Amino acid sequence: MGTVLTRGPTYAEMRHPSRLPPEIRRRALAARSNELDPLNLFNITWRNREDRVRHVVLPRALTGVAANIVVLLGRDFPSGSHKVGPAYATLMEGELAGEIRAGENTIIGPSTGNFGIGTAYIAKLMGYRCVVIMPEQMSAERYERIRRYGGELDLTPGSESDVILVLERTEHFKQEPKNKVLAQFELLPNYRFHRFVTGDAAREAAQGVGNGQVAAFVAAPGSAGTLAAADEIKARFRDCAVVAVEPKECSTLYDNGRGTHRIEGIGDKMVTLIHNVITTDYVALVHDDDCVKGLKLLEQGRPILERQLRLAAGALDHLGGWFGISTVCNIIGAIKTAKLLHLAADQNVVTVATDGFDRYPSVLADLERRSGPIGDSTLARWYDEIFRGATADDILEVRSGVQKERLFRQKREVWSRFGYSDAYLERMKSQSFWEEEYDKIERIDRDLALKRDLMG
Ligand SMILES: Cc1ncc(COP(=O)(O)O)c(C=O)c1O
Repeated sequence: MGTVLTRGPTYAEMRHPSRLPPEIRRRALAARSNELDPLNLFNITWRNREDRVRHVVLPRALTGVAANIVVLLGRDFPSGSHKVGPAYATLMEGELAGEIRAGENTIIGPSTGNFGIGTAYIAKLMGYRCVVIMPEQMSAERYERIRRYGGELDLTPGSESDVILVLERTEHFKQEPKNKVLAQFELLPNYRFHRFVTGDAAREAAQGVGNGQVAAFVAAPGSAGTLAAADEIKARFRDCAVVAVEPKECSTLYDNGRGTHRIEGIGDKMVTLIHNVITTDYVALVHDDDCVKGLKLLEQGRPILERQLRLAAGALDHLGGWFGISTVCNIIGAIKTAKLLHLAADQNVVTVATDGFDRYPSVLADLERRSGPIGDSTLARWYDEIFRGATADDILEVRSGVQKERLFRQKREVWSRFGYSDAYLERMKSQSFWEEEYDKIERIDRDLALKRDLMG
């Protein structure tokens, strides 16, 4: 073989792995059977073996709305969620800038789970020690995966909505210079990855469905990285409505609410630094337990649903295993959006399944402990209430200058505490800030390609 690629892919190769040297692409696909083979770095992409974006269009009978709801599927990314993309991009950019070096630095991953899993995984493949800082009440499957990848855990009190404690703990680790933090809430590789890679995937998944356009993009923010896809989608479909979904129990963007909730990965009680609030049009609220119950239905109640919806037996089988709790939140958010905007049968709402069911059996076991035995009639009622019953209520338009100012203010409250200057925060109020950050991709890709060749 000619050039040996000792590090990972460029942004362009993550967007289109067909751009990889064919030999690397072939070997990377073969490496999927051994997840700790470093060649899996080249499998960080939304695309499958055939270069198609992994997605599913939800049956209309299930959603109850005319518009097509298209769900991008993140479970088949290495490590089991698309959060591995921002983890890799941040480490890759740090290495390129000469700020992070294998064998010298310890990687710190502040997270509520999937980013931590992705960070532990990437650190393992690229030869780093890794510490994941995360709350102590996340699903058991998350901790197991991090340990499996050799990551060490540093747990902070509380659950999903106590991420501020994770950030404070991160400050402590930052004091030791050999620790390098992959700060997903504040570093722009997260924005770059999702705008460039996920944004392209969203547009492509809509092609061939309905009118082929994206009428709305719906994503529940944790770091708000995924929401960056909106900037790319809007570049093509200017009128696309961008909807951030939050737990009703922790409605931070909606009205500064800050309660605890059960939707792991989202609703982190803050406007993150990398959230470009300029391009967010609406904030929609969804009950947290509806998402857990909805997952129970879609994962373990499909035969009942099929009977209720008069579908053939097995008609929903293809949905099994692909969704997590936040996916159900996004799906409910997508149904609400379709109702709000009165979208027609040729229009598409694109949303995201960040991870799959493998992370949540323990959460459904907990649901049964809380609810007692869940019979067929309960499941049928849940479907009516949660999916059919989703309405256009609890959606706030945030396009006005007043709303943007409020969101900027909330952002400033958090991030000036962590040392960001007023001047920097002020610059983020202009779309040109985000365009400049996005435009860096070309140079980064060029530098990486050059470096890889030199290492060959
Ligand atoms: C399960 C799950 N859903 C949604 C999200 C939110 O994604 P983002 O951080 O890109 O906003 C995360 C983030 O960790 C997650 O783990």
